[in-house]
Amino acid sequence: MADNAVQFFQAALAEMEERRKVVQLGGGLERLQKQRSGGKLTARERIEALLDADSFTELGVYVEHLETDLMQGVSAPGEGVVTGFGMVGGRKVCVFSQDFTVLGGSLGKMNAAKITKVMDLAAKVGCPIVGLNDSAGARIQEGVDSLSGYGEIFYRNAVYSGVVPQISAILGPCAGGAVYSPALTDFVLMARGTSYMFITGPEVIKSVTREDVTFEELGGADVHSRKSGVCHLEGENDRDVLEKIKLLLAHLPQSAREQTPLKPTKDPSGRKTPELLEIIHPDQKKPYPMLTVIKAVVDDHDFLEVQPLFAQNMICGFARLGGRSVGIVANNPQRVAGVLNIDASDKAARFIRTCDCFNVPIVTLVDVTGFLPGVAQEHQGIIRHGAKMLYAYAEATVPKITLITRKSYGGAYLAMNSRDMGADVVLAFPNAAVAVMGADGAANIIYRKEIQKSDTPDATRAEKIAAYKQAFDNPYVAAGRGYIDDVIHPEDTRAQLIAQLEMLSNKREERPFKKHGNIPL
Ligand code: HXC
Repeated sequence: MADNAVQFFQAALAEMEERRKVVQLGGGLERLQKQRSGGKLTARERIEALLDADSFTELGVYVEHLETDLMQGVSAPGEGVVTGFGMVGGRKVCVFSQDFTVLGGSLGKMNAAKITKVMDLAAKVGCPIVGLNDSAGARIQEGVDSLSGYGEIFYRNAVYSGVVPQISAILGPCAGGAVYSPALTDFVLMARGTSYMFITGPEVIKSVTREDVTFEELGGADVHSRKSGVCHLEGENDRDVLEKIKLLLAHLPQSAREQTPLKPTKDPSGRKTPELLEIIHPDQKKPYPMLTVIKAVVDDHDFLEVQPLFAQNMICGFARLGGRSVGIVANNPQRVAGVLNIDASDKAARFIRTCDCFNVPIVTLVDVTGFLPGVAQEHQGIIRHGAKMLYAYAEATVPKITLITRKSYGGAYLAMNSRDMGADVVLAFPNAAVAVMGADGAANIIYRKEIQKSDTPDATRAEKIAAYKQAFDNPYVAAGRGYIDDVIHPEDTRAQLIAQLEMLSNKREERPFKKHGNIPL
């Protein structure tokens, strides 16, 4: 090669490397150090911790910011976000990681273009998209162009919803527009103590409503895990959050066109579960730990609970049975007697739809007296929210198995996926009671006059309750009508569920043509 050609390539290579180095340094050593000293990883360290070793391929490396008046002379290496693709557990994912060291990770038009590029790629090839969010919201200097950037992201979040899994980690103070993209995705994870989500921050709130509130109180991981329900999983720190993303991905298919990955287990399919006889309290009114029931039954006792701190009367999460991923929806008799209220209905309905989008069969464990009575619940719209559960179950076409572990009454019997709501299989334990309501309430209503007229009303009431229990508080009336397929021994629970899932593994269910349904919101 001629000398001048060699010199040209050397110079070109040197420039390429120089430019890459600048991009890789983001906001510079000082800001990177500040980021680390705040207990956080940098944008690139996060990608490294998430992906399999050496699997990251970066895209849009040299993208630069839009030249608006206020952005003249501003340096934004990498445009405040690192984007590309790689592997998690040997499976492809697209990823973007916002860089807080560059203009606070704020979102400008070209920053958004980098993100939408990998979102489009994920949708085209059919792989999950993971967003690692650490952003101060719309880039103020870019004005409406930055709002447009958000619009392009939100639009794709919605269009690709149900196409490929979308997972968002919140790993810093995410404000304004930075919270709505995560809210549109399937799962939101937050790091405790270092991540916040809010539409308007404490200062604006103070000036508008005069409320004094800290970042943590307003939108910390704890608030969004316990109160708002925005956060699905909390991590101790960035690394913990990233590990939890891997656990979630392992239960999800690459796209709606694929099945969930199988995870072989040494836990025998026929393993007996006699411990359920000890765990499930025979007295209908006494609580017992449904979480322990779930863990006793599933592969390797391994259960990934989703939204574990929100609406604890309802348990939702992923597990495997015979190596197959399942979504478990269960009443929790240890919290408000496991009744259905507004938050529990929202939580379950969302989870059921997430499972249905991504071909995860649903196992429903029922121990419920009904919807929570009360003026507040009625006025806040328990009708509208409870309807979401009915809708979500009826709409779901994945395999659906219902097991009544103790009682199933009234509207909640239907809302917890009864036969008529589309359950493929309904099982019950021998102690299960299926009725319009509990014996006490029922006897008081239908025998009220007789009880009032009686010389010994208490004795008459007790007699009527006992008679009602004898007649209806058992699984056999429902089983006799075919609403329950089998009454099973609790020790056979695992084997039964695995056999039923195996039978249903090729289930296909077509629905009438529609544009899309109209779930009550
Ligand atoms: C451009 C921004 C920025 C923004 C912060 N920066 N926010 N640049 N646009 N929105 C810059 C700062 O100037 C600073 O630059 C660097 O990012 C770090 O910010 P600090 O304030 O020093 O960091 P910190 O003290 O950690 O506070 C972080 C923060 C705070 C809490 C996020 O920056 C903040 O409140 N920012 C504004 C948040 C906000 O209101 N966003 C909403 C935008 S409106 P230097 O050069 O000093 O490092 C919106 C509407 C979209 O998003 C709606 C769509 C539905």
